[in-house]
Amino acid sequence: MNGSAAEKVILITGAATGIGAATAREFVARGFTVVGADIDRAAGEALFAELGAPHEFRMLDVRDAAAWHAIVGAIIDRLGRLDVLHLNAGVMMRPKGAAIMDDPLAWFTPETFCKVRSVNLDGVAFGIIAGMAVPGLSRIIVTASGAALLPLDIDPCYTATKYAVLGLSLALEKPLAARGIRIDVICPGAIDTSLTAPDVREVVHQEDPAFIARSVATIVTSDAPGPVWMAFTEKDGLQRYDVPGLPGMSGALDVTDAA
Ligand SMILES: NC(=O)c1ccc[n+]([C@@H]2O[C@H](COP(=O)([O-])OP(=O)(O)OC[C@H]3O[C@@H](n4cnc5c(N)ncnc54)[C@H](O)[C@@H]3O)[C@@H](O)[C@H]2O)c1
Repeated sequence: MNGSAAEKVILITGAATGIGAATAREFVARGFTVVGADIDRAAGEALFAELGAPHEFRMLDVRDAAAWHAIVGAIIDRLGRLDVLHLNAGVMMRPKGAAIMDDPLAWFTPETFCKVRSVNLDGVAFGIIAGMAVPGLSRIIVTASGAALLPLDIDPCYTATKYAVLGLSLALEKPLAARGIRIDVICPGAIDTSLTAPDVREVVHQEDPAFIARSVATIVTSDAPGPVWMAFTEKDGLQRYDVPGLPGMSGALDVTDAA
């Protein structure tokens, strides 16, 4: 990235709470100017009032492609640059606060699928498209999930979208690099945020979102080869994930004819 940290601007989506809020605090501590975006106005404005100027909160629904172009334009107009995009906003099938270890098929409806897809996948794609038009933008980091690497049968829609953003990011890695933009994907494990269902909280240890915030900042300020990173537990730390190649040609099955 060109310029000192003091000059750099990062836009974080889903910045009102959880991992996004922790990441906003982390980048402020590292000298960046942080623009936080979310649909949760109350939580976002409260956090950024505490962070103070020049950091600012802006309303953004990541599902709205036109709003994406408006927000990056407004940032360039006001701050003169945008260096890093952290595409972090995300939702699960069940409403926040609901138990998650019931029958996932009870929640598998067109409406639920579209809700999760529109935030988790469209929101990331629209962010990348808007970012591509920003002169000087050099880094994009996407918050995926462990559910991008291992199916989470308690939430198949969430799993599908997280696999999809991983695939999207991997396919875009080289074309974006040709435009001077590096894309990374971070796959957190179970993290203590309002996304975590109460029944999961009882059985799985939840890591502090500050661990993911530090991991995101470490990736963005490093040139270490990526692009996929696992951040499951503080104990295991941040690890590069080796994306598997095509599997070997074993277990062949002869293709049969109708007769
Ligand atoms: N908490 C975990 O265990 C965990 C694990 C792996 C990955 N993640 C991922 O981390 C990211 C952040 O989640 P979190 O755990 O901090 O949960 P969170 O619910 O605290 O934060 C998500 C934020 O996204 C915002 N948001 C939702 N829909 C939006 C929209 N349409 N436009 C803009 N903002 C929107 C919410 O208002 C909220 O502030 C998500 O992508 C999530 O899938 C979380």
